[in-house]
Amino acid sequence: MAESLFEVHDLKKHYRVQGNKILKAVDGVSFHVFRGETLGLVGESGCGKSTTGRLIMRLEEPTGGSVIFEKKDLTALRGRRLRSLRKDIQIIFQDPYSSLNPRMTIREIIAEPLKVHKLAKGNELEKKVSQLLDYVGLASYQANRYPHEFSGGQRQRVGIARALATQPKLIVCDEPVSALDVSIQSQVINLLKDLQQEFKLTYIFIAHGLNVVKYMSDRVGVMYLGKLVELASSESLYERPLHPYTQALLSAIPRPVPGSKKKRIILKGDVPSPIDPPKGCRFSTRCFKVQDICTSEEPVLKEIEPGHFCACHFI
Ligand SMILES: Nc1ncnc2c1ncn2[C@@H]1O[C@H](COP(=O)(O)OP(=O)(O)OP(=O)(O)O)[C@@H](O)[C@H]1O
Ligand SMILES: [Mg+2]
Repeated sequence: MAESLFEVHDLKKHYRVQGNKILKAVDGVSFHVFRGETLGLVGESGCGKSTTGRLIMRLEEPTGGSVIFEKKDLTALRGRRLRSLRKDIQIIFQDPYSSLNPRMTIREIIAEPLKVHKLAKGNELEKKVSQLLDYVGLASYQANRYPHEFSGGQRQRVGIARALATQPKLIVCDEPVSALDVSIQSQVINLLKDLQQEFKLTYIFIAHGLNVVKYMSDRVGVMYLGKLVELASSESLYERPLHPYTQALLSAIPRPVPGSKKKRIILKGDVPSPIDPPKGCRFSTRCFKVQDICTSEEPVLKEIEPGHFCACHFI
């Protein structure tokens, strides 16, 4: 049995918005990530993927639940011990432009985490920065340039180098290729895969669509309105999706196999507001299998087959 590096239990983030309304961005999510694997997280815009990522990084305080990294509860850590664990978990953001300080050179950007965590100084620091640039396919002579002097793909490489600087164990990749040209996307994906092999990294890979995630992930979690509705190995999820929402998402991906007769499932309406989510199953307002029970009782995430979890009354 593989060892889990990281776990979240009943993780919640509720925001107070518009006076005193409560927006449930993440509302009771539990999963674990094995050492060395990639766990994909997918779902439509606003379902809580980035919030989950920020909670994992402790960039925000959870409203409830716990974040366990190497058996230590991050939610209980403060001060120096939290900072020291922070270097083990890094994040790569969707938009490499807004996540890089425009007034800092690439050298300064990559050196910053090394300085903050006191990992190198002087010549050693210079050497580390050049090495990191090399890992991500950039040249050291580019180190004196500013982010705007790079292309989108190159900027994302800088973001990756910065994330690698502290030799993290876990990297949360929050839609790292969504803002890039299609032709550049696969280069960055391949770079992430190579680095994972080389440095034995564990990834949480966030994306909108199931197609990018499939290539990257060992297991995939599907989120809907702050909840995890299905979690399985990539193989079983793509071969035998159980949840109607996953089935709909998958049916929207064009199949390369000629003659395959999968019908596209068109979902009704938009994602409801997380301020006042539907009672019972949150997907019930758009589900093509909806019955009475779905609008009154919330389904729990159950293990249907070994390692394949689904939250639906009819599975
Ligand atoms: N600081 C905040 N204050 C209030 N609401 C927030 C805050 N951050 C996020 N939200 C809300 O929480 C919900 C989840 O947002 P989140 O950014 O996690 O979604 P996402 O799945 O990453 O979406 P996308 O695919 O568009 O990036 C959204 O409804 C969003 O508006
Ligand atoms: Mg997001």
